[in-house]
Amino acid sequence: MERLAKEIKIERKIMDYWNKRYFNEGKIWGELPSKSANLALNLFKKYNVKSILVPGAGYGRNSKLFSENNLKVVGIEISNIAYEIARKFDPKTHFIHGSVLDMPFDEEKYDAIYSFNILHLFMRKERFLFLNKCHAQLNDNGIVFFVVFSEEEKSKIVTYTLFY
Ligand SMILES: C[S@@+](CC[C@H](N)C(=O)[O-])C[C@H]1O[C@@H](n2cnc3c(N)ncnc32)[C@H](O)[C@@H]1O
Repeated sequence: MERLAKEIKIERKIMDYWNKRYFNEGKIWGELPSKSANLALNLFKKYNVKSILVPGAGYGRNSKLFSENNLKVVGIEISNIAYEIARKFDPKTHFIHGSVLDMPFDEEKYDAIYSFNILHLFMRKERFLFLNKCHAQLNDNGIVFFVVFSEEEKSKIVTYTLFY
């Protein structure tokens, strides 16, 4: 019980942190997709991917690229503010408001998973949990495309402080 309460408290803190950022900064990284989303899209096309899961989808800048290229996309996002922005910004994607650590939210399996700058936000135990949950939602021969910060990344990652 105590452990569950602690986990809920941490998730609440994470949501508050991201809500505050999206409330103050709106579309924090602009409206264009990350370069990696374009690389992923080429790969997905090459391997005839039809459906994609986007955990930690933010306000939808990456999912929008996929959905506008006629892929079936589901995004999961913990911040209700980002979730609301995403539903308007990328109406072709189906967004779910929730934590990726609580996946799955349905029985669906996907041809690919695209995750941009989420994995490194978690500590070791949650990283494995997240990866296992992603794996369980992949179709056979599915593709995972994960982007993470390198340890050599120079930018200051404020979010780390929340997870320790
Ligand atoms: C660095 S941002 C990247 C957002 C998006 N991938 C993009 O590139 O625009 C990390 C995102 O993950 C979300 N996030 C953090 N922890 C999460 C969790 N446990 N479940 C779902 N989303 C989470 C945050 O709210 C935030 O939108």
